[in-house]
Amino acid sequence: METHDPLAVHPDNALVWHDGRLHLLDQRYLPDNVGFFACDSAAAVAQAIASMVVRGAPAIGIAAAYGVVLAARDAYEYRGPDWRRHIDADLERLAASRPTAVNLFWAIKRMRRTMDGLVGGDPAADLLAEAKAIHAEDRAANHAMGALGAGLIESPTSVITHCNAGALATGGYGTALGVIRSAHAAGLIRRVYADETRPWMQGSRLTAWELHQARIPVTLQVEGAAAGLMATGEIGWVIVGSDRIAANGDVANKIGTYGLAVLARHHGVRFMVAAPTSTIDLGVANGAGIPIEERAEIEVLSFAGRVLAPLGVSARNPVFDVTPAALVDALVTERGVVLAPDAEKIRALMGSSSF
Ligand code: MRU
Repeated sequence: METHDPLAVHPDNALVWHDGRLHLLDQRYLPDNVGFFACDSAAAVAQAIASMVVRGAPAIGIAAAYGVVLAARDAYEYRGPDWRRHIDADLERLAASRPTAVNLFWAIKRMRRTMDGLVGGDPAADLLAEAKAIHAEDRAANHAMGALGAGLIESPTSVITHCNAGALATGGYGTALGVIRSAHAAGLIRRVYADETRPWMQGSRLTAWELHQARIPVTLQVEGAAAGLMATGEIGWVIVGSDRIAANGDVANKIGTYGLAVLARHHGVRFMVAAPTSTIDLGVANGAGIPIEERAEIEVLSFAGRVLAPLGVSARNPVFDVTPAALVDALVTERGVVLAPDAEKIRALMGSSSF
């Protein structure tokens, strides 16, 4: 890990292209250690995604786009004009880094399309421009969603969020936390209750860090505390991001999101999903078709490096779940808000999008 000056450490600056390398704010060690992980090859980017140096659906997609730049640069350096025939292994390695967030595959596909349109010469500059465009568009989408999502909150209230769908998980500003930031600026957020989010603790380590820096009142809670809190009547909205949204509006997000949605419906709390259209996968009809990543058992059997479960006990570790569209009150995208999403409304939102 390295600490770097040109890369001002702020959650909005978690992915930085500098000096011909991709620098990733290393999310495994936040908030105790704030440092960057430098990637100078596609293989390094793939490893960074798989090992959670960078995580969160849009951020994974952006990192992969820069990974394609590094793959093409290396292929051109070693193979010259024949570079296209030597890039597939790197692209496959990037695509295999994590299975659920569709933004990863979306970004690789978009970079491949740009690659296909290039004629002759060194591809690096054109591909870098495309990766930077993906990055900038994501940040702009988050600001647009922030304004749209905040517009749904009628009066000051407290909200619950789950995992980290903030600047760290995106190109900057955040999806769910972007809505919360915009709503807070408009005087609409009393307090954010952040679920700690076992086993990676994205809520404690990342969401609390971001909100605390932004001076937005944040209180951590264990996931199991959400029901009792909703029963008090203090919570107006649950606001989360997503890793993949099926064509019918079913939403894959961090494990535990589905439970929150069920609780919200029971308590009359509204449930908002904020996600860019790059998270919508029209190729998957419903949530049953979304691949759910299973990570190592040890992540559940242990805590902070110490094994807590008795030897010989096994653990399940699905890291995402699917919330049925029927439990979603509002889907906020950069193209607009879809209330009570279903297949027809999602089709209308996506129009002729080819991704
Ligand atoms: O396993 P992670 O940390 O990559 O999971 C991230 C989430 O589930 C986020 O909520 C989701 O990617 C939305 S991020 C804007």
